[in-house]
Amino acid sequence: TYTNGHVGTADGPETTEADTSGSGRMRKSLEGRGSTQNDSIHLKRRVGLFSGVALIVGTMIGSGIFVSPSGLLVRTGSVGVSFLIWLACGLLSLLGALSYAELGTMNTSSGAEWAYFMDAFGPAPAFLFSWVSTLVLKPSQMAIICLSFAQYAVEAFVSECDPPISVIKMVALLAVIMILFVNCYSVDLGMAVQNIFTAAKLVAVLIVICGGAYKLAQGNVQHLTNAFNNPAPSVGAVATAFYTGLWAYDGWNNLNYVTEEIQNPSKNLPRSIIIGIPLVTLCYALINISYLAAMSPIEMIESEAVAVTFGNRILGALAWLMPLSVTVSTFGSANGTLFAAGRLCFAASREGHLLDILSYVHVRRLTPAPGLIFHSLIAAAMVLYGTIDSLIDFFSFTAWIFYGGSMVALLVMRYTKPNYPRPYKVPLIIPILVLVISGYLVAAPIVEKPQIEYLYAVLFILAGLIFYVPFVKMGLTPRFMDKVTLFFQLLLEVVPTSSMAM
Ligand code: ARG
Repeated sequence: TYTNGHVGTADGPETTEADTSGSGRMRKSLEGRGSTQNDSIHLKRRVGLFSGVALIVGTMIGSGIFVSPSGLLVRTGSVGVSFLIWLACGLLSLLGALSYAELGTMNTSSGAEWAYFMDAFGPAPAFLFSWVSTLVLKPSQMAIICLSFAQYAVEAFVSECDPPISVIKMVALLAVIMILFVNCYSVDLGMAVQNIFTAAKLVAVLIVICGGAYKLAQGNVQHLTNAFNNPAPSVGAVATAFYTGLWAYDGWNNLNYVTEEIQNPSKNLPRSIIIGIPLVTLCYALINISYLAAMSPIEMIESEAVAVTFGNRILGALAWLMPLSVTVSTFGSANGTLFAAGRLCFAASREGHLLDILSYVHVRRLTPAPGLIFHSLIAAAMVLYGTIDSLIDFFSFTAWIFYGGSMVALLVMRYTKPNYPRPYKVPLIIPILVLVISGYLVAAPIVEKPQIEYLYAVLFILAGLIFYVPFVKMGLTPRFMDKVTLFFQLLLEVVPTSSMAM
């Protein structure tokens, strides 16, 4: 099958996520439908402890740490509170991930939230998750990362004034198109881009940390003292500051999408989480200190691209390295995100959850082109109509509803499925705490500053049910859909995977 064909070639962090989440879902659906196709689907367990850690760290470190520190300072108005929020976001991600470790070692099929919702609540909530992640979560991730890419790419060429928004948006669109092309062209090309760019990302992180250490050694500690002098921020402001920080940590649940591919998952899943997330938290804390060693909080807020300002201060003639490595790093993240998004869409539609055409693959290139194009179109619209900050808020709000949902799933299953084997059992207080915090994160910004966007987000999630009942549960297909499918099949040269011999 298609999925099988690519598990062998899949190498980069996001790949495995995509591949397995696809097969995990498919496996489930096949079981559900009693199909015999199941035989051909098996995944190799190739992810050991090292790649598990790399998978978490590689996904988490993306655009956020190069963009969010200024936003966090604006929202909290204080260096000290910002720093505490950075640490708290790391801790929250760790606690969330530990809860996911119980879920992932208990239900060992890939697909994370989808699989847990299916077990705990049944198909309708699981459908709502794939509906929202395909239409909103994955495309908004893509849009945010491409906008950050553009901000840094453009910033490298302007020094005197702020670059025009329209230029940034055009460059971001260009990034969406380039990444779409790469991923439609071949899976191998997508992977090569992913691996090279992940390495570059780590170099960027190291440059910042070393630069900061150098500045501190010179005695530049003035912006780090008196960190708590400003008035305390409001409850809602803290919640939105968390959104900004948590974006940089997003991806902590990534290994749960690939459980089927982890060697000895009951040991390696919790271990990778316990190593990976504190490592990222440490990097982020050090990077924040480095920024403040090189510039004042005011300068940080005013800077459109902190890492560039940092480079200009510290790297002298090599200042160009900074925007370059950030663009390379964000381009890599966006590539991985689209790769995963395409597979998610592919799997959900194959499940009967989305349009058939989205599960088809290109006849010769074997890439899930319709799914990729579909995502890129939504991402492009988000690039045109959104800003990084608004998209991050929107993303985090929606994502945390589902992360909270997974905590409920964990608690529910302690009651409904007490005898399931749980090789890793998280202390109950942890998921309860994460649930309470996610409730706060979702509710506080609404209470503090009711914005119509939040209502739209909730309505959008629920709107999924309008599609679920007739098209998924009852299995109705309007007659004209066959013609639409045929049209796009001819236009894009794509076929259903079952008709491909591989
Ligand atoms: N944390 C990443 C960043 O700072 C974004 C990760 C997006 N999430 C994902 N599952 N790919 O850019």
